[in-house]
Amino acid sequence: MKYRMLGSSGLLVSPICLGTMTFGEPVAEADAIKLIHGAIDLGINFVDTANVYEGYKRFLGSPGGTAEEIVGKALADRRDQVVLATKVCAPVGPGPQDRGLSASHILREVDRSLARLRTDYIDLYIIHWPDKHVPLETTMAALEQVVRQGKVRYIGASNHNAAQLCEMLWLAEKNGWPRIVSSQIPFSLLRREFHHDLPFCERHSIGVTPYQPLQGGLLTGKYKRGKTPPGNSRVAEKPAWVWPLDDRLFDQLEGIETLANEAQTPPAQYALAWALTQTAMSSLVVGTKRIDQVQDAVAAADLDFPTDHLERLDSLCPSPWQQPDPIRGAS
Ligand SMILES: NC(=O)c1ccc[n+]([C@@H]2O[C@H](COP(=O)([O-])OP(=O)(O)OC[C@H]3O[C@@H](n4cnc5c(N)ncnc54)[C@H](OP(=O)(O)O)[C@@H]3O)[C@@H](O)[C@H]2O)c1
Repeated sequence: MKYRMLGSSGLLVSPICLGTMTFGEPVAEADAIKLIHGAIDLGINFVDTANVYEGYKRFLGSPGGTAEEIVGKALADRRDQVVLATKVCAPVGPGPQDRGLSASHILREVDRSLARLRTDYIDLYIIHWPDKHVPLETTMAALEQVVRQGKVRYIGASNHNAAQLCEMLWLAEKNGWPRIVSSQIPFSLLRREFHHDLPFCERHSIGVTPYQPLQGGLLTGKYKRGKTPPGNSRVAEKPAWVWPLDDRLFDQLEGIETLANEAQTPPAQYALAWALTQTAMSSLVVGTKRIDQVQDAVAAADLDFPTDHLERLDSLCPSPWQQPDPIRGAS
């Protein structure tokens, strides 16, 4: 496994990060613990969770905590082997202080996460979503406090665009606070709206750790036009978490699969290897249900992606922000 730098943190992370959003359901506790141990044995040293993750039973405002508890049990005697990331912001109850990026919520939730994770430090504490009601300076001051207290080692952002990341860097510099080291954005062959932010992250040493690089499993080749989805797949078990399977989507999926076949690479590996060609990437946050899926992801990290496929994929799955450059041309 060739490890990559996580932004300016100095941490070396595996190019595949183990996602835990489905821990609890459909991945039951005992299986999830085995999956974490198996992933570590395969060289993965980066685990991503969130205070709200509790698998398919999650609804907006439900208390969460299940995935963190499972991760805590799994890492009880392997804590030093992983860079552990968790998140704060999403609602964990009905009350006004049960959500968001106020100091009150952050300071309460960091302690709850630490207890569930059975650890006294979080390697990477991520603000899960922007909170339009709270000035970023207030949030950054609270994050500085948890770093100073030793509860958190590094901070990161998720679902923030380059302008918001820029403001965070500026506030850190202005106040002598810790810089953010990572950005977790949605990113896959099918979802590229943050693509134009990658150069910003690279220039400012923010490691990009995209989530859903398989677009919830759509890019794994298991869904076929006109065929019933496999029974143990996400589309069958939790359709609300996957895009509708329509003709436009299948046109793209079939095009990608043709290219993957040409490269003699299984579709899931092909999609992940493509994402890893983006130089801003530190690690892809991949969801897995079984160890063979983890093995697939790990294999992708060692592939040499055919560079002549990049432009063909750009025309098949264009980034919405691709700008013509009359001076320097396409690349
Ligand atoms: N920051 C955020 O806002 C945010 C949002 C969402 C997710 N995340 C993070 O990103 C992680 C990944 O998200 P995700 O699980 O939704 O997306 P994903 O990684 O794109 O999709 C994972 C799903 O694809 C299927 N799969 C994976 N590998 C496969 C393979 N080799 N062959 C066939 N099927 C395969 C599995 O589902 P089935 O087998 O059930 O079909 C698996 O659960 C989460 O666990 C979480 O840590 C973060």
